[in-house]
Amino acid sequence: MTDRVTRREFLAAAAALGATPVWAAGAKSKSSRAASSHERRDLFPEGVASGDPHPDSVLLWTRRPFETGEQARLLVEVAADDDFKQIIASAPAIVCAASDWTCRVLAGNLEPATVYWYRFTDEMGQTSRVGRTITAPAADDARPVKFAFVSCQNVNQGSQHAYRRMIFEDERAPQAERLGFVLHLGDFIYEIVWYPEDRPQGMYDRKLRDIVRYERGEKIQDFHIPTTVDDYRAIYRAYLHDPDLQDARARWPFVPMWDNHEFSWRGWQSFQVFDSATRPQQTRKVAAMQAWFEYQPARIRKSGGTSLERFDPPKVVNAPITRFDAHGLGQEPNNLTALASLTGYRAMRWGRHVELLITDQRSYRSEDPNSRPEAQDFATKDFPELIPQEALEVLDAGRIYAGGKPPDSIAFGDKQIANFRKQEPPQTILGAEQKTWFLNRLKTSTATWKVWGNTTGALDCRADPKNLPPGLTVPWPGKGYAGFNSGDHSNAYVERAEIYSFVRGEGITGFATVAGDRHSFWAGLAAETLPPKAFDPVGISFIVGSISAPGLVEALEHQLAKDHPLRALYLAKPPGANRPQPAVNMLLRHGVRSCLEYQKSGDADRARSLSNPELAPHLSFVDMGGHGYATVRASATEWECEFVCIPRPVERVARRDGGPLAYRVVHRTPLWNKGARPQLEQRVLEGNPVLSL
Ligand SMILES: [Fe+2]
Repeated sequence: MTDRVTRREFLAAAAALGATPVWAAGAKSKSSRAASSHERRDLFPEGVASGDPHPDSVLLWTRRPFETGEQARLLVEVAADDDFKQIIASAPAIVCAASDWTCRVLAGNLEPATVYWYRFTDEMGQTSRVGRTITAPAADDARPVKFAFVSCQNVNQGSQHAYRRMIFEDERAPQAERLGFVLHLGDFIYEIVWYPEDRPQGMYDRKLRDIVRYERGEKIQDFHIPTTVDDYRAIYRAYLHDPDLQDARARWPFVPMWDNHEFSWRGWQSFQVFDSATRPQQTRKVAAMQAWFEYQPARIRKSGGTSLERFDPPKVVNAPITRFDAHGLGQEPNNLTALASLTGYRAMRWGRHVELLITDQRSYRSEDPNSRPEAQDFATKDFPELIPQEALEVLDAGRIYAGGKPPDSIAFGDKQIANFRKQEPPQTILGAEQKTWFLNRLKTSTATWKVWGNTTGALDCRADPKNLPPGLTVPWPGKGYAGFNSGDHSNAYVERAEIYSFVRGEGITGFATVAGDRHSFWAGLAAETLPPKAFDPVGISFIVGSISAPGLVEALEHQLAKDHPLRALYLAKPPGANRPQPAVNMLLRHGVRSCLEYQKSGDADRARSLSNPELAPHLSFVDMGGHGYATVRASATEWECEFVCIPRPVERVARRDGGPLAYRVVHRTPLWNKGARPQLEQRVLEGNPVLSL
């Protein structure tokens, strides 16, 4: 047994989280004020949720809006059974207008690895739906840990029935194989919303749903963004009215982390970037953090005092941010205050085998050099999505490139483009303070698997246009490989190398990254460099497809010119095919020669026999068109990650099983010894993701 938290420590912990405490008494009571109550889901329209389980406590959440008044009292009850015959804790909980009638409760003195049920009742005896939650196993629990990871749900443009499939499979799984929690790696909401009349043609394959109207929204191009905390609250409410998402939150504890869209599409620190203009928006950053705090039960730290019921946002103004420290952090006081309003990075432990280190990739990062207007000179329509890798490396490293001797300019075909990063510090995504925390936790973790919950991908994404046969198109303007501008750790070469060489240097094994953001499934090995440089992986790395947001393949189907000379590298239509196929998967895994052969013969095996072995020794699987979710089973001896992919979720499938699967593929890794190379073994269990292999 681990040391149990005392009641006094528990109350202090709840206060620090801004949550109302409820302490489970040992004896199980049979009487309940809510016994005579009746369920009124309409009065709790966003349902219930739980989050961030520890072995002895978990956060519980609901929203009960009232038309009038400033605050109201609910009763929260926690039971050992779903009929609430064995209530083990109950306490009053306040909802108030100042927190948009949301309610955060920390239930404590619970047993580890145990399923509980909970509900909320108002003073009229009207109850919420019943939620189910699960505490984490104790630190000495040697049983395998099972969890799901997801990202990128877009209620404006798609359907969330991937969650329906997840529920269906979990209900049918043996007790020991059920999910302990759902790690949500961000884009829980998309703050950019198209009103249906803005785009009568819809978005790619999708019709636009009329889900929200921002009271104070700003219209940019043909979409709308929130500007106030009420606007951000409105988008969370709209999302939580989705039946599949709401049922998932009622079934498992979620462990959520924001990515970019919880604040702003191309946002970083307190900046918003629209129409090539970077604008300081400290007030919107605080508003986004406040709504996140109110709608996501998580163990995160707010700066706004110790109130249990309210966020108490710090006052900020939108002031220009012009001075940056050596890590690119804007020193303007309102920027620093806005970033500190909510600190999301944190570590959590499940039994002997899983320590989850969750990082914030958006609040502390320096400006993405590849998003700067000057970087547009490295992009060309002749090679869609591709940028010379050497340019990405020079722009990432800034003044430390080549041992402190960065070039004045970078060749691009017969042009020389100025190195606008020559005087600037290398890019950081984590920022100095968070990175120190992260590396320390990695080093001191005693869990079998050190799991990096990185909201953005870290696997290199590259192609080999230098191997194109002459005459097909203009010559590739780069010197070697081409990278994609992913804006994540795959382009942050310096920082990624720092992290991976730390992992190697400290002899850390069981290093596994789980990520989202890319709207695509990826499985591979974590390596700081690829051939022709050394290839020396230090861990395993996975990226989950989106729950519903459109991916690159769908965008290409609508945007790539039918007569583009390189179309076969992205969307193949071999003889006999009646619709385009995602050749871009093969491009990233095997290279241009395989794609051209596949276009000619439609024979995937023959195409793969022309694979460029140097291109992607780090990758086992890529699907740039897949949607769904991933699960992990982590034990003393192995890690298994399963991708559950559904067809494009354009329309909701209301079936109990969530509709058909596209494929199911599992990657298994035995725990490796210090200094040994991790290995991935792949098995396709259902379907045939033919171009992803
Ligand atoms: Fe996303």
